[in-house]
Amino acid sequence: MAQSSSKTIFLCNSCGNEYSKWHGQCPACSEWGTLSEFNPPKSRRKSNGAPARETTKLHTITHKKDRKRISSGIIEVDRVLGGGMLPGSIILLGGQPGIGKSTIALQIVAGCGESALYVSAEESEDQLALRAERLGVKSKDLHVSGENEILNVLEQVSVIQPSLLVIDSIQTVYNEDLDSLPGSVSQIRDCGQQLLNACKQKGFTVIVIGHVTKVGTIAGPKMLEHMVDTVLYLEGDERYDHRILRSVKNRFGATNEVGVFHMMSAGLEEVTNPSELFLAERTANTAGTAILPTMEGSRPILVEVQALVSKANFGTPQRNTNGVDSRRLSMLLAVLEKRLGNIMGMNDVFVNLVGGLKIQDPAADLAIISAVASSSKDNVIADGTVLVGEVGLTGEVRSVARIDQRLQEAAALGFKIAIIPKGNMKNVKSFKGLKIHGVKSVRDAFKIIF
Ligand SMILES: Nc1ncnc2c1ncn2[C@@H]1O[C@H](COP(=O)(O)OP(=O)(O)OP(=O)(O)O)[C@@H](O)[C@H]1O
Ligand SMILES: [Mg+2]
Repeated sequence: MAQSSSKTIFLCNSCGNEYSKWHGQCPACSEWGTLSEFNPPKSRRKSNGAPARETTKLHTITHKKDRKRISSGIIEVDRVLGGGMLPGSIILLGGQPGIGKSTIALQIVAGCGESALYVSAEESEDQLALRAERLGVKSKDLHVSGENEILNVLEQVSVIQPSLLVIDSIQTVYNEDLDSLPGSVSQIRDCGQQLLNACKQKGFTVIVIGHVTKVGTIAGPKMLEHMVDTVLYLEGDERYDHRILRSVKNRFGATNEVGVFHMMSAGLEEVTNPSELFLAERTANTAGTAILPTMEGSRPILVEVQALVSKANFGTPQRNTNGVDSRRLSMLLAVLEKRLGNIMGMNDVFVNLVGGLKIQDPAADLAIISAVASSSKDNVIADGTVLVGEVGLTGEVRSVARIDQRLQEAAALGFKIAIIPKGNMKNVKSFKGLKIHGVKSVRDAFKIIF
């Protein structure tokens, strides 16, 4: 067992909490064997005697009203960032291995037209040059560095004075003053703090790339996400070549904004109309499919919900979902049985959102329940119909947010019929060529579609 001393603290590698003595089980996150010894760097052990900073009265602070954002040169990325990158801000970009983090970072660096330093501790300069050639990067003001000691990196920043710094990745940079290995909680925390201090002081923008853990969150202390201004995730499905850039935290813009891209040999290419992409291989006039106008941030996207109901061959029927919450499906199946007499007890039910998209939009309920009923009854939902609405436990259809945007997207793509909650009918606009039906319950919706 590690010995505690007055100067040593113990850090949990799972949740990042610190303790003055060692515990076998972390009191905060209950994980076993995750505490490790951490010696703070010498310079931090005692106060350096510097006076505390002076306070300032809020009304005396002058700031530029319109701080000019740096455009990444990629419209989709700018939208996700809330209009571009703010000078002096720090952006964390996470994603699964090989999803395209380095690719998008290099494209941003090339597209912004500002002086930049790309620190790639993960790949050699040759590999970076090879990728840059493939992506057609021709920037003359892009410096690359294989340095991975954080204080040396900051020294290079002082010399080059770039507007943009990319750290690829935070798990590979380290501070020599700490005993722990690169990628450990203490190293990530310290390097994050050093970058934060430098970028706030000098006003350059930092993009920090972070690996994700098995459960999909950025590896390292949760604190890193608190420290930074913006957290972006690049998501995708190995089976498809499209990628989604999503903002989950943004101090200077809306969250849950998404940008959609295609992974090509020349890099990530913007998809300007994602609905067309997700509906591209749709088979019309087949039982078990329904079209849903969902919202991803402020953007409406039409997606196909597929359901398959078949007789279970084994004792316990399966409930499998792809892209939607399986507990939500269980609730909808219970509503279908209890309120509409559609017995699912001994059937396997599979629900799939086409295109590898994952949604948590409650407005998807009506499309899911209709697709399941369509497969179970072998009854086709007419081509050109969209369904949207949240379903409650009594089988009622409840109002949803942003109905106009959803319907506008459906009308733009030539859909003819929209089934929406009655509660949304009061203030819904009309759209050319789209017949809108307001329904109070799932039963009402089924009367129209079947
Ligand atoms: N010649 C190519 N044509 C098309 N796509 C390519 C080509 N070369 C690489 N890719 C795509 O780029 C992806 C790798 O991109 P990148 O290295 O930017 O990912 P990453 O997220 O930085 O990976 P890591 O976690 O290893 O750092 C590959 O998975 C592949 O999809
Ligand atoms: Mg990479």
